[in-house]
Amino acid sequence: STRGPLAGRHLLITAGPTHEPIDPVRYIANRSSGRQGYAIAAAAARAGARVTLVSGPVTLPTPPGVTRVDVETALEMAAAVEAALPADAAVMVAAVADWHAEAAAAKIKKPADGTPPALSLVENPDILAGLARHATRRPRLVIGFAAETDDLLANAQAKLTRKGADWIVANDVSGDVMGGADTHLHLVTAAGIEDWQPMRKDDAATRLVARITESLS
Ligand code: C5P
Repeated sequence: STRGPLAGRHLLITAGPTHEPIDPVRYIANRSSGRQGYAIAAAAARAGARVTLVSGPVTLPTPPGVTRVDVETALEMAAAVEAALPADAAVMVAAVADWHAEAAAAKIKKPADGTPPALSLVENPDILAGLARHATRRPRLVIGFAAETDDLLANAQAKLTRKGADWIVANDVSGDVMGGADTHLHLVTAAGIEDWQPMRKDDAATRLVARITESLS
């Protein structure tokens, strides 16, 4: 769009889970629905930004005005994020698997003696940390999410430093936030912590996009 407070800006957003194949018919996944990331993409497009939404497998419709790139694995997500640069701001909302399995080429069979197969796991790249420390095309504003069930704010602050992000949006997932319409976020920055109180994911998205707009202007 050529109108709105984010006109002329490019926002890069990741959302949803990743699927990490074990063999041709099985995968490792997580409970991310993609709803928060999609809401942020929709809010950014409404504000006039050009929006690239790199999405893991979800069942949500593409928000109006958003360019969606579908991926399955963390490695595909990392490549799609790199391909979408440069961006003015990046919001990494995806629940990226920490590991992928060394996938078997054929379906793993149950052995006659009942021995369970062992999965060999390999670490995935940290897409957020990679962007925050990008040698040539670091977005001006790099934002991560931290979904935690325990020690929410301490973990979020640790993540801010460890990953080199500008902001971490801390997300208490001890209730039924995963897949639900409501959320309770804290915005964690070098300046401190803001409690945003429980609200609809759509309203949280609008609020975050307003903050991004402020920060980029
Ligand atoms: O360390 P943790 O997975 O809790 O960090 C969450 C944040 O890091 C989210 O913003 C998520 O999108 C991002 N992340 C990532 N690549 C990974 C793991 C997490 O971009 N491999």
